[in-house]
Amino acid sequence: MTADIIDGKAFAATVRGKVGEHVARLKEQGITPGLAVVLVGEDPASQVYVRNKGKQTLEVGMASFEHKLDASTSEEDLLALIEKLNADPAVHGILCQLPVPDHINADKVLAAIDPAKDVDGFHISNVGLLATGQKAMVPCTPLGCLMMLRDKLGSLSGLNAVVVGRSNIVGKPMAQLLLRDSATVTIAHSRTKDIEALCRTADIVVAAVGRAEMVSADWIKPGATVIDVGINRVPNGEKTRLVGDVDFASASQVAGAITPVPGGVGPMTIACLLANTVTACCRANG
Ligand code: GUN
Repeated sequence: MTADIIDGKAFAATVRGKVGEHVARLKEQGITPGLAVVLVGEDPASQVYVRNKGKQTLEVGMASFEHKLDASTSEEDLLALIEKLNADPAVHGILCQLPVPDHINADKVLAAIDPAKDVDGFHISNVGLLATGQKAMVPCTPLGCLMMLRDKLGSLSGLNAVVVGRSNIVGKPMAQLLLRDSATVTIAHSRTKDIEALCRTADIVVAAVGRAEMVSADWIKPGATVIDVGINRVPNGEKTRLVGDVDFASASQVAGAITPVPGGVGPMTIACLLANTVTACCRANG
C-alpha cells in the first residue's frame, strides 16, 4: 500500500483564504484584526518563524506588530511590553516566540498575556478551558493537526489515537483535542513500554517528539493515518535536510494517509494562528 499524502501546504492556503475573507468583512465594519509577535534574541529558527508570521499576517489583510528585542532584555521589560500590548485595543492577538533566553521565566511571560489575546493558547486559563471542554484559545499546531485529521477521516469518534510526545505545546493539547472529538487517546513518551506495539494499535498516530525519523513502518498499523509534527535538521552530505519524526519513506508504504515534512503540519500552524487572531478579534468586538 502507498499512503495518500496529506497536503498541508494546500490546506493551509485554503484556511488563509477563508481567514482573508473574514478579515475583509471585519474591515468593512471598520475593524482590523491585529497580531503582535514578540521575539527576544536572535535564535535563527525563531527569526524565520517570526518573519513568516509577519508576512502572512499582512497577506490576509491584518495588522502586524513585530517587537524584536535584544537577547539581554530583562524579564521586567518584557513583562512591561506585554502589559502595553494587553492594553492596546489595536492588538487582538499576542504571541511571544519560544524559547526565550534562560534569564527569562517563560511561564511568567505566558501568564502575563491576557487570556483573551493568547492566540497561542498557552495561558493556564486556556489550558484549563480546553481540558474542561469549554471555549478556549487552542494551540495552533495541534489545531492544524486536528483540522487535517477531520478532513481526512470525518468523525474521529471511537478511533484509537496515540500521541507520541507529551509537550505542553503539542502533545498534551493534541490529546485533549482528540479526546474532545471522542477518540480513545493514549499519550506515549520516552518511558512508555513497547512503544512500537502501542503505536501499532492506533488508527491515528501523531508524532511530536523531536527525534528524527523515529517512527518507522513497523510502528504503523496498515491503513492508519499518520501526522508528523517533527521538524528536524539532519546532515545531508555537505548540507542539511529537513525530516520529520516519522521515517516517511518506510511509513508511507504502510499508512493509509500521512503528512510529509516539509509541507504537512508546518504550514498549518501559521494558518491556525491567523484564524485564532480573527477569533480573538471577533470575541473582543462582541
Ligand atoms: N516555538 C515553537 N513553536 C511555537 C509556537 O507554536 N508558539 C510560540 N509562541 N513559540 C513557539
